Amino acid sequence: MKKVEMHCHILPGIDDGAEDMKQSLQMLHIAMEHEIVGAIVTPHGSARDASRERTEKIRKLCRIFRAKAEQQFDVIFPVFPGQEILYSSDIRRLLDEGKLLTLADTRYVLVEFMPEVPYSTLFAAVRELRMAGYVPILAHVERYHVLREDGRIEELIHDGAKIQINYSSVGGSWYSKTTRWCRKQLEEQNVHFLSTDMHDPLHRSPDTEAAEKWMQKHLEPEYIRMLVHGSAREILEEKRRKKLKSDKGTR
Ligand SMILES: [Fe+2]
Repeated sequence: MKKVEMHCHILPGIDDGAEDMKQSLQMLHIAMEHEIVGAIVTPHGSARDASRERTEKIRKLCRIFRAKAEQQFDVIFPVFPGQEILYSSDIRRLLDEGKLLTLADTRYVLVEFMPEVPYSTLFAAVRELRMAGYVPILAHVERYHVLREDGRIEELIHDGAKIQINYSSVGGSWYSKTTRWCRKQLEEQNVHFLSTDMHDPLHRSPDTEAAEKWMQKHLEPEYIRMLVHGSAREILEEKRRKKLKSDKGTR
């Protein structure tokens, strides 16, 4: 099934993901073999390294990566800039100032937390970002143990959060508590996005196969489509509408 990625570290030399362009293209090759047809790319960002220079660098790397992909594989692989932002109380202001990036220049923000984050921080962060007009997507929620308590993930969704889980956590062993928890969330349709969170060609790779096998057996096809590309396409649709509006404004 075709997939659109919205959480990956495929741009070269900007974070702990791909080391260089050669590795970026290796990752892209594996991603395309798994039918990933486009990506919002999300180098790490935080209040500590936020700057306009960095966001411009990400945009520039997107353009270079797109051109290299076309050269190497003779395909148009759409790439859109974004960031995976480590939450702190400053990030809303830094987003407003353009020193951190939303996903594809929309209202959607991919935000991560330290694994030991208290629930009160998650709750307050969702409220704060929603109040400021952003749509927070909580990255790899399987890492936050406070969310294992019944009712919490539902409460955050009710308050406007979107939920992202990694393919590798879904495709893990049944003996893994994390995998079982992720699968339960999927069965209860508490997840909006599945992503590779790819960092390199081997260890955190663009592999989606095991997760897909499990999903095909246990989930409705319509829900799987939403998880692997529908929700990401909604982000890109918002981008398209925003561009049309601004084009009209400049005419
Ligand atoms: Fe990530």
